Amino acid sequence: MKKNTFFDFKISRYPSTENRSLKAWNAADEHLLQHIEALEIEQKSIAIYNDRFGFLSCFLHAYAPLVVINYRSQKKAIYKNIESNQLNFSTLEFLPPLFQLDKKIKTGIIKVPKSLDLFRLQLSHLSNQMQEDGVILAAFMTKYFSKKIISIAQEFFEKVEQSKAWKKSRVIILQKKKSIKKVDLIHKINFQGVVFQQYFGVFSANHIDYASQFFIEHLQLKKEEKRVLDLACGNGVLGKMIQLQNPDCEIHLMDDSFLAVQSAALNLEKENTFFHYNDSLEIFENDFFDLVISNPPFHFEHETNIEVAIRLFHEVKRCLKNGGRFQLVASQHLNFKTHLEKIFSQINITSENAKFVIYECLK
Ligand SMILES: C[S@@+](CC[C@H](N)C(=O)[O-])C[C@H]1O[C@@H](n2cnc3c(N)ncnc32)[C@H](O)[C@@H]1O
Repeated sequence: MKKNTFFDFKISRYPSTENRSLKAWNAADEHLLQHIEALEIEQKSIAIYNDRFGFLSCFLHAYAPLVVINYRSQKKAIYKNIESNQLNFSTLEFLPPLFQLDKKIKTGIIKVPKSLDLFRLQLSHLSNQMQEDGVILAAFMTKYFSKKIISIAQEFFEKVEQSKAWKKSRVIILQKKKSIKKVDLIHKINFQGVVFQQYFGVFSANHIDYASQFFIEHLQLKKEEKRVLDLACGNGVLGKMIQLQNPDCEIHLMDDSFLAVQSAALNLEKENTFFHYNDSLEIFENDFFDLVISNPPFHFEHETNIEVAIRLFHEVKRCLKNGGRFQLVASQHLNFKTHLEKIFSQINITSENAKFVIYECLK
């Protein structure tokens, strides 16, 4: 098989960013490739995890890898990079996080995610789908190292070795899988008399996010608001609160994360409820919603970035009916007001405390 060098492909980010310090891959990805070269890999027996923009999928494309997708935006990014590098789509097979396959995987390639709960979910699932003599290579930047990475790996594998550091990254090599009984991959959170369920790796693992709790204290649906979107819904807690206020309301919930949308589906009544696994409001018509509520994203893995939230705010304006409302909660330090003022004609601060602020934007 022809060896690719780092200069063979051009990998870009999706969504694109104005921040030139944000890259489409880092040394941990390159370090993984070096280790892969030392393995004998069979075609169609390699599974790639947490390849955010497609660096690994493009470089390993000749092995016909299985690519496990957590986010809609991740799939779009990988598509764009496969296309712009004129590679063949049909060699890649995209799978959801909790996929089931008849064949067994020989090599797992994991970029360790920021959420170690998600890492645990991935190892637990992957170890069940692997051949007995399979191997997993998992890489991370050393500044993000936590002993928990090793202890989670040791839960599922007898042999866990660490490489030397290279360009401030490390690879761990996992072999000899343990035979493990089923591991529970769902957290249960008791909040205001409701038990919320969420898959490991979904935002705010052990409690309802404090910004959302503050929002819920002040969340009041108006009588005439019949169609509502919970944008960036996570486990669906905000949409659930709306559903409890008016069970007849049509509720839409959207998130970029597959496991978030799956979790929301565990928490809301299904009637009149629509779940959307997407990173953009392009799926909705103009003037569609009476109310949009959100605790918008500003963290992506180890990066902080408000560009995605601002793009979503523009999309919200298009999808709101005239006279409709967009209510969002945010940390004070993000200073979203300046950005919202450029989009909406009227912004009210309806509540705030030292940490959080709730904005109401009118169309
Ligand atoms: C701050 S969390 C809020 C989650 C939930 N509403 C809550 O209050 O617990 C932000 C959510 O935005 C999601 N997200 C990130 N980018 C997104 C996008 N482009 N479109 C929709 N959701 C996105 C993340 O997956 C995450 O679940």
